[in-house]
Amino acid sequence: MDTSKLRINGARLRASLEEMAKIGATPAGGVQRLSLSDEDRRARDLFVKWLKEIDLEVTIDEMGTIFGRRKGKNDRLSPVMSGSHVDSQPRGGRFDGILGVMGTLEVMRTLHENKVETERPLIIVDWTNEEGSRFAPAMVASGVWAGALERDWAYARQDKEGRKQGDELVRIGYKGTVPAKKWPTYAYYEFHIEQGPMLERQGKTIGAPKGILCLHWYDVYLEGEANQVGPTPMEGRHDALCAAAEMILAVNTLPDRMQGNMVATVGEIQNYPNSRNIIPDKVHFTVDIRSWDDEHALDAWELLKKDFHEIAGRRGTPMKIEETWRVAHAPFNETLVQRVLDTAKELGYSHLHMVSGAGHDASYMNQVCPTAMIFVPSIGGRSHVEVENTAWEDCESGANVLLHCLLKTASENKEKR
Ligand code: GLV
Ligand code: MN
Ligand code: MN
Repeated sequence: MDTSKLRINGARLRASLEEMAKIGATPAGGVQRLSLSDEDRRARDLFVKWLKEIDLEVTIDEMGTIFGRRKGKNDRLSPVMSGSHVDSQPRGGRFDGILGVMGTLEVMRTLHENKVETERPLIIVDWTNEEGSRFAPAMVASGVWAGALERDWAYARQDKEGRKQGDELVRIGYKGTVPAKKWPTYAYYEFHIEQGPMLERQGKTIGAPKGILCLHWYDVYLEGEANQVGPTPMEGRHDALCAAAEMILAVNTLPDRMQGNMVATVGEIQNYPNSRNIIPDKVHFTVDIRSWDDEHALDAWELLKKDFHEIAGRRGTPMKIEETWRVAHAPFNETLVQRVLDTAKELGYSHLHMVSGAGHDASYMNQVCPTAMIFVPSIGGRSHVEVENTAWEDCESGANVLLHCLLKTASENKEKR
């Protein structure tokens, strides 16, 4: 069959996304499907059911990652993989992650109903815990699979209630037996919303990032001295929250002080005992630093640590710092990125060569095999929020680009690129 005219079914893609959006739906129109929660389990169950309906061979690895394999004509050739994640941020959006999973499923359904055979096998994947919001770090399962993170370290990571990631995998019934270990993979594609404003601002439909910024995560723990707020004079206090407040502003001004080319954020904080009439004696907060330049991000961290030590010393609040996670910037495979741009052009969609500021499993997959991503616009550039939105026709366009990128790459029958 001439596959050049093949297109995915946009209405069916929309219906799958709408069905998934019911799982963990929030009142303001978003979803909350934290990794390894009951909602994550329900989304996984539905996903696996859909994979089986089109005869994909389903395997689940020790990290709970779900793979659905579609045979190739030459089944011994290494597969082409595509997917993303079904977990979400707390009060997150209906498109982050799930679009790449449902988009790939839609491609598989299109190939199935048209009885299209590809030379290479195709694999759809749902990576466990991409978000890293409940259990830090993010992209943990692709990190373990790629050999960059330790499986047992990942199992031991705890949420705020002290539940371990490994135990939660068992609880939801998704701790598989297949080793979470990379196998030869020919190429990886990830279809995703942009999560930023560039495509919309430039009026483009398809984005092809040249790569992903580095991500550096830190955890800071401060100790103060608790006391009754009324009788305790201001001088001589050791207020852990005030120390944190100064540190948070130091993070916020860091990119400016480093002359740009980076972003730095404190997104999470816990204050104890969190009572309006007790001076706080314990604070934990997180730091997220991202840049295209890994060295620049490391230099920024050195500067920030000096600030933190000065503030903690002056306020008498002993500090513990954990360097939780670092993933280097990921420059994608230029041939595959060009393929995304060329395919968008062939299908008549406007396109943009850009950079991804958001982290994705594609970062770790880039360490394993040639990798590229396909972006579609985020309305208002908003993401990780309940109002996150993308036009249905853009979802359809992106999935068509994915379809044809997968068809082209899966038709290459030489073992080496
Ligand atoms: C992943 O969602 C990120 O933090 O960019
Ligand atoms: Mn995502
Ligand atoms: Mn996300």
